[in-house]
Amino acid sequence: MEAFHGRLTRDGIRIHQKDDYAGMHRAGDLAARILDDIADHVVPGATTAELDERITAMVEAAGATSATIGYRGYQHASCISVNHVVCHGIPSTKVLKDGDILNIDVTVIVDGWFGDTSRMFVAGHLGRKAERLIEVTHDALMIGIEAVRPGNTFGDIGHAIQTYVEAQRMSVVRDFCGHGLGQVFHAPPNVLHYGRPGTGPVLEEGMFFTIEPMVNLGRPETKVLSDDWTAVTRDKSLSAQFEHSVGVTSDGAEIFTLSPAGRFHPTWR
Ligand code: MF3
Ligand code: CO
Ligand code: CO
Repeated sequence: MEAFHGRLTRDGIRIHQKDDYAGMHRAGDLAARILDDIADHVVPGATTAELDERITAMVEAAGATSATIGYRGYQHASCISVNHVVCHGIPSTKVLKDGDILNIDVTVIVDGWFGDTSRMFVAGHLGRKAERLIEVTHDALMIGIEAVRPGNTFGDIGHAIQTYVEAQRMSVVRDFCGHGLGQVFHAPPNVLHYGRPGTGPVLEEGMFFTIEPMVNLGRPETKVLSDDWTAVTRDKSLSAQFEHSVGVTSDGAEIFTLSPAGRFHPTWR
C-alpha cells in the first residue's frame, strides 16, 4: 500500500503535511544554490550550453536528479532564455554578448521532492530599460507571494501581479503559468499571473506551488519557435521572469527557493 501523503481538494490540489515542508526546503535550497553559483559565470563570451553543463555537473555532484532532462523529450538541466525569449530557451552554442539579459530556470529532484526556481542574470552591463524590466518582474513575483495566505484565492495572486505590472506600463504573459508541485513537477492548479480577485481555488495550508511571472516591455503575445520549446515575444520586445517554489502556511507563505547567498534580487552585485 502506498504511503499516505495528505488529501486532495475538490480542484485536485494536494494538501501536504507538516513533514513535507522539510523535503521541499532541501530541494528548493539546492536549486537556489545552483543559481547562486552560476551567477559569476554569466559573462560576455560564455555560451548558454557551457552554463547548462555547469548546472548539470552541480546537480550530479549533489547526488540529485534534474527534473527537466528527459521531461517531454527536453534534454537539458536548465532553460536559458535570453533577451526576447520568454521561457524554455534551449542551451546552445550561442555566445552571450555585453548587455544580454537572461533567465536561468532550474528544477531538481531531491529525495523525491521538486525544487523549481528561476531568476534573471545579465552579461556585462545592464541597460536602463532592461534594469527597469527586471526590477518590475522581481517585484511582481514578490507582490504575488504577499497575496499567498489561507483564505485568499489563486485569482487574488494573479490580480495582484497583473495590477502592479500594468501600472508600470508593462505586460504579463498569458500563455504560460505557474503550477502545483511537490513530489511531481507539474500538478494542479494552473497558477495564472493575471486574474480577478476572489476567483479560482481558495488557498489552504499545505498547498505547494510555483509563482513565475513573465513580464514583457511590449505586448504580451508569445509564439513558440520551430524547435517546439523556445517561446519568444511576438513583437521581439525584452522579456523577464522570476520563479519561486512556495508553500502555504497557517498565516502566509514559506519560500522554498530563497537564495542562501542573497543573490536572488537583481541588485545582488
Ligand atoms: N522549470 C520550468 C517551469 O518553471 C519547466 C521547464 S520544462 C523544460 O515549470 F522541459 F522545458 F525544461
Ligand atoms: Co515552474
Ligand atoms: Co522553472
